[in-house]
Amino acid sequence: MKLIIDDANIDQIKTIYEYYPVDGVTTNPTILAKSKRAPYEVLREIRGFIGGQAELHVQVVARTAAGMMEDAHRIVKELGENTFVKVPSVPEGFKAMMALNREGIAVTATAIYTPMQAFLAAKCGAAYAAPYINRIDNMGYNGIQVAKNIHDIFRNNGLKTQVLAASFKNSQQLLELCEYGVGASTVSPDVIQVLVKNQAIDSAVEAFIHDFEGLTGSGKTMSDC
Ligand code: E4P
Repeated sequence: MKLIIDDANIDQIKTIYEYYPVDGVTTNPTILAKSKRAPYEVLREIRGFIGGQAELHVQVVARTAAGMMEDAHRIVKELGENTFVKVPSVPEGFKAMMALNREGIAVTATAIYTPMQAFLAAKCGAAYAAPYINRIDNMGYNGIQVAKNIHDIFRNNGLKTQVLAASFKNSQQLLELCEYGVGASTVSPDVIQVLVKNQAIDSAVEAFIHDFEGLTGSGKTMSDC
């Protein structure tokens, strides 16, 4: 499962890249709005930092298929290869997805709440389909189960589309999808930073250091004893 950062804050992205094995960045219009900066300025900065090989997912905002196509062309022109154009999984979006697929532009179908949206997006040629785990939970359904169903639908129908699960609240949600083998998950920096936050782990590491220092002296490590 690929692990992707769901944020546009360059400082946060740099911190996560320094400490965690991540595969790229996803954004959406709300995330870009939080930066309070010009969208392409932020996105170019992210692309410059993560490099040309990492995945960068950027969403169209236009309401019509024609407008989505124009947005997509500009996004790809500005941000280069390995840029995935996020397209909402609504009728105008399906129309745009089919046309983008014909042009060879990689699509991430987004705003997915139901398996049927994902199935149709996959048939339109989307590379990824992004179900919103936490938002589905908040509607009274089971977001993890929806993501698993979508994964199964793709495999059972010979569709190459991968699940890119989004909208996570905690480590357990991510682990379940990791165990199931979905293609990718995109997670906000604050959730990534608590994925392995656990007092038992910290205590174990501290006990090792304490015991070693008891043997060799305070502050000593394997490199200086
Ligand atoms: C991903 O495609 C979505 O834009 C995003 O992950 C939604 O997350 P949220 O529900 O935390 O806003």
